[in-house]
Amino acid sequence: MSKGYLLEAKGIKRVYVNGDEEVEALRDANLKLKKGEAVSIFGPSGSGKSTFLHIIGAFDRPTDGLIEFDGRMISAMTDEELAEFRNREVGFVFQFHHLLPEFSALENVALPLLISGSGKKEAYEKARALLSEVGLAERINFLPVKLSGGEKQRVAVARALVHDPRIVLADEPTGNLDRETEAEVMEIFSRLNRKKKITFVIVSHNLLVKKFTDKHYDLIDGKM
Ligand SMILES: Nc1ncnc2c1ncn2[C@@H]1O[C@H](COP(=O)(O)OP(=O)(O)O)[C@@H](O)[C@H]1O
Ligand SMILES: [Mg+2]
Repeated sequence: MSKGYLLEAKGIKRVYVNGDEEVEALRDANLKLKKGEAVSIFGPSGSGKSTFLHIIGAFDRPTDGLIEFDGRMISAMTDEELAEFRNREVGFVFQFHHLLPEFSALENVALPLLISGSGKKEAYEKARALLSEVGLAERINFLPVKLSGGEKQRVAVARALVHDPRIVLADEPTGNLDRETEAEVMEIFSRLNRKKKITFVIVSHNLLVKKFTDKHYDLIDGKM
């Protein structure tokens, strides 16, 4: 891998096969990401944006191509290594927050830590700190249904950070929100990027996102 890059994706191809039908979701997607960089990826619906994020986040494997993360060849890992890599290094924020409705904001953020074996006290302390980092210190005991759209998405951002990931991948994280709330979520990403040096890849339809990222890429017909 070239020096100074956290992630390098080269010639990524992904073909989905359903019966005798094949969909070439990615043909030739390339990305070089420096440590601490924030980039955005734009493209029309169906252009392969989600597929690409899933592949660089190790949720899915490419049909062809290479992915390296900090000198480790992701594309050559076993399923077990891949799962561990994903847990340790990657935070994911989806378009819909996917919070568990029966749990409070605090519990939603603490849950991944509890599942991976952290002690209760430690997990809740960390969850509390992250929620206050995203401006929700006053809302930690609220159930998702009592939170606004933007607040729910901020809980999802806090949850994505619980394992101190080096990279955060966001798939149309503001696709569902009004303009003001969108700006609010983007400000939080931007602050985390500056303060914690977290590397961000943000997929969007929304041009506002360009303002907050160092670079932007266009993914068109599976090519980037
Ligand atoms: N599991 C799947 N099986 C078959 N085709 C899929 C699957 N997931 C996505 N696709 C197809 O791959 C293409 C890219 O999808 P996607 O990555 O979701 O695009 P985007 O996020 O840019 O809207 C689309 O044509 C979509 O229909
Ligand atoms: Mg998508």
